[in-house]
Amino acid sequence: MRIIYEQKEMQGIADKYRNWDKTIGFVATMGYLHEGHLSLIREAKKDNDVVFVSIFVNPTQFSPDEDLDKYPRDFKRDEEMLKKEGVDFLFYPTVETMYPKNFQTYINVEELTKVLEGQSRPTHFRGVTTIVAKLFNITKPHKAYFGQKDAQQLIVIKRMVEDLNIDIEIVGMPIVRENDGLAMSSRNKYLSDKEREQAVCLHQALEKAKEMIDAGNYDVQKIKQEMEKVIYNYSIPKIDYISISNLTTLQELSQVEPSNTLISMAVFIGKTRLIDNLWI
Ligand code: PAF
Repeated sequence: MRIIYEQKEMQGIADKYRNWDKTIGFVATMGYLHEGHLSLIREAKKDNDVVFVSIFVNPTQFSPDEDLDKYPRDFKRDEEMLKKEGVDFLFYPTVETMYPKNFQTYINVEELTKVLEGQSRPTHFRGVTTIVAKLFNITKPHKAYFGQKDAQQLIVIKRMVEDLNIDIEIVGMPIVRENDGLAMSSRNKYLSDKEREQAVCLHQALEKAKEMIDAGNYDVQKIKQEMEKVIYNYSIPKIDYISISNLTTLQELSQVEPSNTLISMAVFIGKTRLIDNLWI
């Protein structure tokens, strides 16, 4: 695996593979890799001739009160994991090269980013879409892989790609979970032992919702009430939101729409804000 630090060099390599008619699969990450990332990389390897991965902790998607400085980083460990997976190129730029002094252009997907995560993190998606568009221009992939764990991110990126006629296929991949159901996330590292036990409440609440929907109960208010009960049973004091929304528009529903509903949530486990979701 070659590690590339410079944008121009990465673009040159991408051009070379494209000229050779080779397909490029791309996985964007912020590092501190886990099985969720590896599932994207494995799919990219299956589908493409060559696989590019990026590691970049993107400052513009964190607000000043968020965890940019303490976001977990372990480059050596990530590098070993990527080598083992047979990744061809790792793009590993610096903040200074991605956001030079005069940087002033941002991409904003408007309506989809005002709800759910966007309500609690108003500048988050502007940072995500901007960096993802930059990474697409640098790595020039045919296909890019994102996890359904960040459901809204995936939906927003698909919207951006369609709206801006970006010629890349966006592939969404299922959430990878620990044995007890906790969705894999780099932020799980922040949890104490007790919090790690409590964190399973997100998945339990989603399971409760699924059970109710499978039994034919589509009433959103009732489902949300039952989900809240599951979470409070774990002595969790703070639910940021529970949403049951249309999968395309992300607008809240009063009745579950079979095959077109996203159940999503953010919950504070201690100081750590975790998200999880279920695609119906
Ligand atoms: O999902 C992430 O890790 C990040 O939001 C992404 C897509 C790499 C952009 O920084």
